[in-house]
Amino acid sequence: MQPPRHFLAIPDFTRPELVSLFDLADRMKRRDYREKPLAGKTLGMIFAKSSTRTRVSFEVGAFQLGGHALFLSARDIQLGRGEPIRDTARVLSRYLDGIMIRTYDHADAEELARYGSIPVINGLTDLLHPCQVLADLLTVREALGGWDGKTVAWIGDGNNMANSWLNAAGSLGFELRLACPEGYRPDPDILARNQAKTRIVLTADPREAVRGAHVVTTDVWASMGQEEEQEVRARAFQGYIVDTALMRLADPSAIFLHCLPAHRGEEVAEEVLEGPQSRVWDEAENRLHVQKALMATLMAPSMAPSP
Ligand code: CP
Ligand code: NVA
Repeated sequence: MQPPRHFLAIPDFTRPELVSLFDLADRMKRRDYREKPLAGKTLGMIFAKSSTRTRVSFEVGAFQLGGHALFLSARDIQLGRGEPIRDTARVLSRYLDGIMIRTYDHADAEELARYGSIPVINGLTDLLHPCQVLADLLTVREALGGWDGKTVAWIGDGNNMANSWLNAAGSLGFELRLACPEGYRPDPDILARNQAKTRIVLTADPREAVRGAHVVTTDVWASMGQEEEQEVRARAFQGYIVDTALMRLADPSAIFLHCLPAHRGEEVAEEVLEGPQSRVWDEAENRLHVQKALMATLMAPSMAPSP
């Protein structure tokens, strides 16, 4: 039997595979896709952290593809009482056809994939949020026609989203500029790996990052699990708000993205989030389409078009 394919990070797919995934997502979005590749199949969704978009889009997506999704709160399954991940992985593999996991330590998602015999999808770890950045990339392609020759500006925390944008830039070859305060920079290994593949600029000045950019994006200053650092972080991130004055420095056709949930008046001004350049609702919708394409590709590979 073929070992399962996982999606824990954007570089798990080659560029042609990513393009083919986006093409399939486009077809699904246009309703030009009638197949039910998940018929009779079940996705287990393990959540150790809160979620609105990820939970609902995976569950609805599995249903629309003819399958079923199970919500498994990490607190309620035996994992929360200390059952090892490697045991959970082998047991769940006997019932399910795929697992999506949202958790803290990225190594836990990797362990699940190593010990399980079904595809594992990363629904967010402290290190990466690859499904969100897939949706963002689809949104960029829809709004701007593609990624070639484009510059993306990341403003704020060097968090799981920033790390996934680094991987996306390395995989697709666009320019990424990150403006992060000292002490809140992205993962140094992920940075170095992708700096070897494409142009990546790291600065502490949001204006330098945004000047002429085609995409401006940000995220909360304190991610899930960092709630106690909220006040310290709010001080460190002063001057990092994406407001109209900052957006004016970007390319006139630039779009604004945010994975949501957003904190209006902190990392983004209300007028930008709700303004004409914002594509955040398309971005949220695209989680559904791109994850359907991902589930079809991983959980029913014989039915998904190959690149
Ligand atoms: N953007 C995102 O992953 O949202 P949720 O935390 O609501 O799933
Ligand atoms: N960086 C945020 C993303 C939420 C979707 C977090 O990890 O909480």
